[in-house]
Amino acid sequence: MLVIALCKGRFLEPSLNLLARAGIRFPDDLASSRKLIFNSDEGRYRAVLVKPVDVPTYVEYGAADIGIAGRDVIMESRADLLQPLDLNFGHCKIAVAGPKTAHSINGSDHPTVRVATKYPRITLDYYNARGIPVEIIPLSGSIELAPLIGLADRIVDLVETGRTLKDNGLEILEVIAESSARLLINRAGYQTKRGEVLSLIQALEKVVR
Ligand code: PRP
Repeated sequence: MLVIALCKGRFLEPSLNLLARAGIRFPDDLASSRKLIFNSDEGRYRAVLVKPVDVPTYVEYGAADIGIAGRDVIMESRADLLQPLDLNFGHCKIAVAGPKTAHSINGSDHPTVRVATKYPRITLDYYNARGIPVEIIPLSGSIELAPLIGLADRIVDLVETGRTLKDNGLEILEVIAESSARLLINRAGYQTKRGEVLSLIQALEKVVR
């Protein structure tokens, strides 16, 4: 049986739809129940429901053979995983954003830019690569609030429709990376369960195309 780590939240429904189109169906109450483990109807797969940021960890440690997660959380985790397939949903950008009126490169008069984010590693890499001193202000949500009340000069966050930025008077200053849902595979599992893993990749590839 292959174990698949699925994100709770906004990725769950498109992940289940994709798997169903590839012939893998889970019980109808999966999305509404508080249970965390479900077997597929034909019994060949087991879904475990985890927080999006934890999917790479479950797969890297082999607690799940396979996972579905956004490229954003995969980049941030730096987990050592195989990523054979872009699943073509959950498209968004990881971007630096700030107030529309700010013109200087770091948005403040201080030599160090203060950046609020839930992606501290991606943010640090971005500013380090440009030689700009940065102070990371770690937050876990409502990131757009930080520059509005003086907590930060900039944010690094996901932008999907752009509505949250617009409604808060912020704009994209630079796109760091494009993100979408990816299939993740545990490296050891890819060797030891090669047949099952490859047949799942092929089934999903057909659907995605
Ligand atoms: C995400 C992200 C942005 C928003 C972007 O937040 O962190 O705040 O969605 O979407 P948009 O461009 O379509 O407006 P989420 O809804 O996950 O809530 P959070 O603030 O709790 O992170």
